[in-house]
Amino acid sequence: MGLSVRWSLLSAILCPFFMEVRGDCTEANMEIEGGDYKLTKQLQSGSMLIYNCPEGYYPYPALTRLCQRNGSWKPLPRRYLPQKCRLVECPDPNVLEYGNVSPPQEKYFVDNETTYECYAGYTHRGSSRRVCLPNGKWSGTTPICSRDSKDDCADPGIPPGAIRTGNIFGVGDTVKYSCNRKLFLMGSSERMCLENGQWTGIEPACYYKHTYDSPLEVSQIFGSTIIDRLTDSEPVDDIQVGRQIKITKNGTLNIYIAVDISESIRDEDLNNSKDAVSKLITKISSFTVTPNYEIVFFSIDIFEVIKTQLNRFSVTGEDITVRDTDLNFVFKIFFFNVCLTYSVLSLTVGAYNMGEPAPTVKKIKNMVYMSPTSDDETHPREEYLDIYIFAAGREIFDEDLYPLTAGTGRRHYFRFKDISNILEVFDDIIDGDDVKGLCGLHWEYSDHIYSTRRMYPWMAFNQGRLRKCMGSLVTPQFVLTAAHCFTFEDLPEHVSVEIGDGRGKVKRVKAFTIHPNFNVHAKVNQGVKEFYDYDVALIQLTEDVSISFNVRPICIPCTQETSDALKLPGNSTCKQQDEEILLKNSLEKLNFLTRTSTVVNKKDVHAKLGDNRDACISHALQAAGITTADPKVAVTDNFLCTGGRTYFRDHIACNGDGGSAVFKDYEYRTIQVALVSWGTGKLCRAGGLVESDDSSRDFHINLFRVVPFLKTILGNNLQDDYAPLNFLKS
Ligand SMILES: *[C@@H]1O[C@H](CO)[C@@H](O)[C@H](O)[C@H]1NC(C)=O
Ligand SMILES: *[C@@H]1O[C@H](CO)[C@@H](O)[C@H](O)[C@H]1NC(C)=O
Ligand SMILES: *[C@@H]1O[C@H](CO)[C@@H](O)[C@H](O)[C@H]1NC(C)=O
Ligand SMILES: *[C@@H]1O[C@H](CO)[C@@H](O)[C@H](O)[C@H]1NC(C)=O
Ligand SMILES: *[C@@H]1O[C@H](CO)[C@@H](O)[C@H](O)[C@H]1NC(C)=O
Repeated sequence: MGLSVRWSLLSAILCPFFMEVRGDCTEANMEIEGGDYKLTKQLQSGSMLIYNCPEGYYPYPALTRLCQRNGSWKPLPRRYLPQKCRLVECPDPNVLEYGNVSPPQEKYFVDNETTYECYAGYTHRGSSRRVCLPNGKWSGTTPICSRDSKDDCADPGIPPGAIRTGNIFGVGDTVKYSCNRKLFLMGSSERMCLENGQWTGIEPACYYKHTYDSPLEVSQIFGSTIIDRLTDSEPVDDIQVGRQIKITKNGTLNIYIAVDISESIRDEDLNNSKDAVSKLITKISSFTVTPNYEIVFFSIDIFEVIKTQLNRFSVTGEDITVRDTDLNFVFKIFFFNVCLTYSVLSLTVGAYNMGEPAPTVKKIKNMVYMSPTSDDETHPREEYLDIYIFAAGREIFDEDLYPLTAGTGRRHYFRFKDISNILEVFDDIIDGDDVKGLCGLHWEYSDHIYSTRRMYPWMAFNQGRLRKCMGSLVTPQFVLTAAHCFTFEDLPEHVSVEIGDGRGKVKRVKAFTIHPNFNVHAKVNQGVKEFYDYDVALIQLTEDVSISFNVRPICIPCTQETSDALKLPGNSTCKQQDEEILLKNSLEKLNFLTRTSTVVNKKDVHAKLGDNRDACISHALQAAGITTADPKVAVTDNFLCTGGRTYFRDHIACNGDGGSAVFKDYEYRTIQVALVSWGTGKLCRAGGLVESDDSSRDFHINLFRVVPFLKTILGNNLQDDYAPLNFLKS
């Protein structure tokens, strides 16, 4: 299945290019009190000087300066208005009607606290206490004091810094908003009261030039909802209030992303923005819809950008299809947009707050709408069009960019201080707890802030009276582990499972089921003292665990959920999953986890399949307690074999690793293919990352071989205790 990217190069509008006498700018008088600055291209013409202040401060009077061709800065530094870092200010909260704001102040700065109280007879909604945050926003939500009236819609309030006209809230009535001087209005400038008691549009907010959205906030708005929409492939026929992303009837999704890279200082910054976008696209494509993307990278320094873009990406005039396994995306450049941005910006730098939105903006939007998104006459193009703008940088040209957004529902415009913030947002996107059905979703990295739980949210630790093992969450109510983790005397009440963090991470167990064919003593007479075939068990918890970014099931073989994760077509088979994707190579790279005290590590191993298998399992004969001459007596076809040092130095399983999921990552999903059962060596008793020696081998139960057992329990749809998994028919 390919990811189709519509590609049409619009180069009809020519960029004006003037030759001028060049001169270098100087750094004289460029210093900033309390901060520093960076130059995008040293002191050459076209270089941008970007001021930087500590958190809670912003550069004033200029945010950036541009080196012009004649060697002067724009705007010029002003002698009597020295450049410095000012305390971040929040918009005026004294717009509250029918209530008091305390303390009353002319200006409110970062960390200032305010409280809100309604006059007698008025009801309070929203926050009663708000703090001015370092990004220039008030914490919490807009306080509103209103009388309990018979109006059809509730008082929509007045956000800080805003002015509202309209005080009647009946069906069909409208309210209009504007922002105080120096502030830019985001959201709806006009809202109408609907019959269902809701206001159209979204609550407006007034932004200073130094107001930014926090990555967390954006991922909450854009992130979790994008997933909600993407996982819901039901056709959507009518425009709903609050929809975020519209999927056309045939499942096509159009997403337009514009990224401003004017302030990219080095290649690295450019790479970061590309990474951010490729991350988003890969993530979205890991769901079941196939979106079309149009991505615009624009800069005020057009010539440079076009040059680098053209060098890096092959540009053709035709529709092209990029395979999922390829980079997954291509970048599209709207030359007209770039030109426009350039000409508008060069005219308005320093004065953009006063300028009319350029008439050309409308032209651009029309051109964007002309993209072939829908042939359906009854549904105008806009209905299927969402343009999101993620603007990053000190200087953001809101007046030019904001009108380019399209789509109803929540916000489509976001402002960040740095491109790296956009990366954070896209990483956060899969954190939505509304993607319960999606097995194996995980974060691809963890750092000091985030625990390894986000990388391995399915990770479980189980313990009976005598034995400690590892397991994997395979549904919200079941943990898969090894049968040998239980002793004959263990009862469900002796068993506990640890999943997730903090309080409540230890779960109680309702029952556990060992594979009926598991019998350690079955081959004592054939020279195998301990026989581990069918070393698999399922633990049922007393109740569903709640799914979050820290706790989420892993995908297991031969389920529809796994076919979806692997993007196989509807009629896929178990064999396809096994032989065409997951275990197709004669050396298949797999991983499993190990835990020492509280640290979890990932072990790298290679399953020796096909022609490599016999040599691998022959080492089983060196294990203590095995006296047969035929390794296949102990290592049946139900095992995968890893270890050794040929080709790759594999890690080896340690005590305590038993039951650990042997898994493979596929894009943003993890699929468990086996579980750790037994090994030949006793190289490590305490766990941890230990490399194999020449003869040490481990044997893992291949889940493809125990599907009937898994299906009997996990696929059982004749009970009401838990939601079953959908096992494939063949
Ligand atoms: C440089 O050019 C700008 C306009 O392009 C002009 O406003 C400015 O006065 C010029 N500066 C000098 C020193 O010539
Ligand atoms: C508000 O913040 C400013 C700057 O930090 C500070 O001087 C002032 O005392 C604060 N006001 C209150 C009421 O905390
Ligand atoms: C940016 O990416 C390109 C290609 O992906 C790579 O060759 C280059 O080294 C990267 N530059 C930096 C500074 O990371
Ligand atoms: C959906 O419809 C659009 C426009 O009608 C078309 O371009 C696209 O190829 C269709 N997608 C699928 C998956 O049929
Ligand atoms: C699945 O269906 C498609 C079209 O209906 C067909 O071409 C393909 O061969 C089928 N695949 C299998 C594995 O049956």
